[in-house]
Amino acid sequence: MTTDHYAVVGHPIGHSQSPRIHGLFAEQTGEAIQYVAIEAPLDDFAGTVRDFFDRGGRGLNVTVPFKEAAWRLADEHTDRAEAAGAVNTLYRNERGRLVGDNTDGEGLVRDLTCNEDTEISGQRVLILGAGGAVRGVLLPLLQAGPAEIMIANRTAEKATGLAHQFSDLGPVSGGGYDALHEEFDLIINGTSASLAGDLPPVSPDVLTETTVTYDMMYGPDRTAFSQWALDHGVKRTMDGLGMLVEQAAESFRIWRGVRPDTAPVIAALRNHR
Ligand code: ATR
Repeated sequence: MTTDHYAVVGHPIGHSQSPRIHGLFAEQTGEAIQYVAIEAPLDDFAGTVRDFFDRGGRGLNVTVPFKEAAWRLADEHTDRAEAAGAVNTLYRNERGRLVGDNTDGEGLVRDLTCNEDTEISGQRVLILGAGGAVRGVLLPLLQAGPAEIMIANRTAEKATGLAHQFSDLGPVSGGGYDALHEEFDLIINGTSASLAGDLPPVSPDVLTETTVTYDMMYGPDRTAFSQWALDHGVKRTMDGLGMLVEQAAESFRIWRGVRPDTAPVIAALRNHR
């Protein structure tokens, strides 16, 4: 049996969990793959990708800061990559063309609905932030059939602009934090504020006892956003570790045709960080 080669490309890449996650998937499914981390130079992502595939590599994951560059490099995009304007999964199709997909939104939706038993369909959803991370997940979230998606951002025009781009696809609107006075069923933090331990300036008026919150970030400690929600009476908070594993599982499925069981992998990562 020959071993097929895969990798994640980013800069920096030292802390990536992807080699571990895909290693666990390979063990579980018996697929003969090797998956490593590659740090591409900031000025030559394209060369790194070309070199990898020219040497026979079968698929790449792409992470910060190259997801938009990967979108530009791909010869073809899936619908969800097209909508995201960013690519986290690359492979060559049978005609040798470089296909770009984006599995982040599918990862978020599957983590919420399959792992966390959290409804999106018919729910009133608030998304905080309007950067690349949020754009990357909007199409799959809208396809899950929410009653409404409100995007709130510090720079309000970015939220209204993003909502406008997706408005043909579902009930989505955007604005600043000041305009938020209603309550929501599900609140997703897609800002990078958590990285610095900061909070987006959202009023606790958006919360009820039954609101659930999801922080797309994760870390060894509870995020500032999850702590804020708990402090205001929210009973269920989630972080983005499940999304990380689910987006990886979707990439693995695209490449190998087999969907790994994510629950034991999420548990392994939670227990040994
Ligand atoms: P990413 O690719 O992670 O989404 P990005 O495109 O730079 O990164 O977007 C970062 C997002 O986090 C933006 O929505 C940003 O708000 P602005 O557009 O107003 O800059 C948001 N953000 C970052 N730090 C924040 C903070 N301290 N409070 C509120 N929002 C913050």
